[in-house]
Amino acid sequence: MNKTVLVIGSGGRCHAIVAALGRSPHVGTIYCAPGNAGISRAATCVPIRETEVDRLLDFAREKGVDLTVVGPEAALAVGIVDRFREAGLRIFGPTRAAARIESSKEFAKTLMQRNGIPTAEYRTFREVSEACEYVKSRPFPAVLKYDGLAAGKGVVIAETYPEAEAALRDMLLDDKFGKGSVVVEDYLTGPEFSFMCLVSGRHVQPLALAQDHKRAFDGDKGPNTGGMGAYSPLSFVTAEDEYFALHEIMQRTADALCDEGCPFTGVLYGGLMKTPQGIKVIEFNARFGDPETEVVLPRMKSDLYEHFTRVADGEDAGTPEWHDFATLGIVMASKGYPDAYEKGFPIEGLDDIDGEVFHMGTDVKDGQLVTFGGRVLMVVCQGATVSEAREKALREVKKIKCENLFFRKDIGLQK
Ligand code: AMP
Ligand code: GLY
Repeated sequence: MNKTVLVIGSGGRCHAIVAALGRSPHVGTIYCAPGNAGISRAATCVPIRETEVDRLLDFAREKGVDLTVVGPEAALAVGIVDRFREAGLRIFGPTRAAARIESSKEFAKTLMQRNGIPTAEYRTFREVSEACEYVKSRPFPAVLKYDGLAAGKGVVIAETYPEAEAALRDMLLDDKFGKGSVVVEDYLTGPEFSFMCLVSGRHVQPLALAQDHKRAFDGDKGPNTGGMGAYSPLSFVTAEDEYFALHEIMQRTADALCDEGCPFTGVLYGGLMKTPQGIKVIEFNARFGDPETEVVLPRMKSDLYEHFTRVADGEDAGTPEWHDFATLGIVMASKGYPDAYEKGFPIEGLDDIDGEVFHMGTDVKDGQLVTFGGRVLMVVCQGATVSEAREKALREVKKIKCENLFFRKDIGLQK
């Protein structure tokens, strides 16, 4: 009960990591940089941003931090893990080179193709005219994924040729964002699911499966968001599916990264799809998923601190153990999200919730909890089954009073 941990990040994922570490008998003090209003009840928040590596390094040294855990991708992409390791500090997360599995679509697709890891057929382009010719030769819709320095242009699913051409021009001819490339890939169909694994070189330990709901509104309608809810476990993924995903996708990817000279340490997140032709990779992330983490970690029975330290020390994480209960979480988001929204609305009713409330974007103003982000809170409830957990979460979420929040009522009902 004497270890000091520093968790980097500020959202609901970070809150869930802090809560899980707080259950470890090894952990004494938890710092979180920068954290948020909810996290500050479970950890000491320090006002250092997630990409201020020098300041984080100084802080970890000064406080004698035994383990640093990185939540968000932005910190990984600036090489925080490399810097901490050079300084001899223990840190959980992948190096900048290994994190390219998320930060570069082209790197990820090439690695999959070379190693026979199932994913949508694709080609990479730097020239608009060549990309357009290729799009014309493939069935619609076309999936266009920007790959370059301009983050935020993301993924476009074009139903028609004019739409695809406009998106390609936007991605490849817009000098404002510098020169990048575009991965054009075939459109796949089927339910998506998130498979997170604790990876340490060639050692791969699966975490419980979860499903995210990316669209803003009920019935999977509306724009894509960071995720409006999640649940775990999943009934539509069979034991054979999971075996295949573990051995043919996650293990192969971990091995391939070792063979490329950039072994992965941390959470490798497979965004997978169960297509009529089998399970395929939609994307990889180099970190815990948000909001999946908020439903997966509450189900973990084994000690997260022990898993993290083993991975950070280059060893196998050890086999995680799980509670039998199901979890389901509903995200409350600011009206208008994922587009423009207002902040600063008072939130009431949190103390009456029978379940866990993870703070995603909250702040305290004059002693009052207020909204401070697009996604604001996530209410996670347990049940013997997913539908029991859903009923409970729906009941509990309605106890939270705030005039500017909305949520989905069909989490766990969509595939
Ligand atoms: P990403 O930003 O890569 O997670 O993509 C956002 C979303 O676009 C995914 O969650 C999928 O729903 C969808 N998507 C991405 N690639 C494909 C694909 N090849 N086929 C169908 N849908 C896709
Ligand atoms: N839930 C998807 C992600 O974390 O990227």
